[in-house]
Amino acid sequence: MSKLKALDEKFNLADKRVLLRVDLNVPITNGKVTDKSKINKIVPVIKELISRKTKIILISHLGRPKGKIDQKLSLKVIAPILGTLLNSKVHFFNENYGSSAIEKSKKISSGEVLLLENIRFNKEEELNGVSLAKELSKIGDIYINEAFSCSHRAHASVCEITKHIDSYAGKLLAEEVNVIKMLTSNAKKPVTCIVGGAKISTKIGIINNLMKKITNIIIVGAMANNFIKYQGYNIGKSLFEKNQEKLLKDILKQCEINNCNLILPEDVIVSKDYNSKGQLKSLNKIGENDLILDIGKKTIENILNKIDESKTVLWNGPAGYFEVEEFSLGSNKIANKIVENTKKEILTSIAGGGDTVAAINKFGCSNGFSYISTAGGAFLEFLEGKKLPGIKALEINE
Ligand code: 3PG
Repeated sequence: MSKLKALDEKFNLADKRVLLRVDLNVPITNGKVTDKSKINKIVPVIKELISRKTKIILISHLGRPKGKIDQKLSLKVIAPILGTLLNSKVHFFNENYGSSAIEKSKKISSGEVLLLENIRFNKEEELNGVSLAKELSKIGDIYINEAFSCSHRAHASVCEITKHIDSYAGKLLAEEVNVIKMLTSNAKKPVTCIVGGAKISTKIGIINNLMKKITNIIIVGAMANNFIKYQGYNIGKSLFEKNQEKLLKDILKQCEINNCNLILPEDVIVSKDYNSKGQLKSLNKIGENDLILDIGKKTIENILNKIDESKTVLWNGPAGYFEVEEFSLGSNKIANKIVENTKKEILTSIAGGGDTVAAINKFGCSNGFSYISTAGGAFLEFLEGKKLPGIKALEINE
């Protein structure tokens, strides 16, 4: 059995330089950070390190500059935001390795933070380069990975670095790994997974992995259109993915073999376009010009009943085009039902994925889930049962 290498709480970190890999890959429009969730998330971790009198050196990427310097993707803009949230000095350094970065890391006072420039400005980062990793390791005394959302990337600041410096899994990372592991190993049954989103092909890995372990899979969102069409109904002008018949047939067969209930929409909300009024229709009434944009009343009722029957729910992918009020009822009802049962302590609820988190925030439900993962790709890959390189690098045998 392997477990994550964790830092001993009692370990004296005073005056040590802690190299902290974080995910500050935040959305920026016209030089302004438009969503600070990822920054807020790491604040308690940094505060704890400040209280332990360490020198904190932050490594992160921003966007995909492909090894080239791009001032639009500089992390400089984050330093003052972080400084305010921490109520502590945050130095920004416009390099991310080399002798001056090492010098700077030694010069800052204990309890201060040094934010290095976007690590992806180096070509070697995405190549998991040994020389960059070795250089980075000289900037700290120990390394902690707090970026679960980047741990599916075999990059130098996530993987190779762990070979050159005493390295640990951070608390947030360990928590995220444990929550997702719980889902697929010892979750309280019945377990229901609600999967939505646009493309069935991007979620097939999760469905295949989970159907062997859980009670119900509920398919919603544009993904469900494929199943509706496969069942012989007209889906009009709705989004669907071509040439997926074999995949759908396999899912139906595997669900049967694994005794996993597959729940599909029975009615839908259609419209002529994204800005017009929605109309409730049963599947056999969908017309040539209809666009399916949400699940219908009966489907919502079915899903809410399934949530009531469940002790654990995973939600990944909205039920409809929730960005527009008219088509947000399905996702809204799901979010609120999950929150209601979680608050009553009769349900453990986990949600993840960019759109799902956006929907949950929109409905004001972000404090009502047991756990919300802000990771995108890493969350999906972990649920697919894949070994994430950044996690593997921090595992030790018990
Ligand atoms: C994310 O936003 O999901 C992480 O920061 C990873 O970013 P990437 O997909 O560019 O590697």
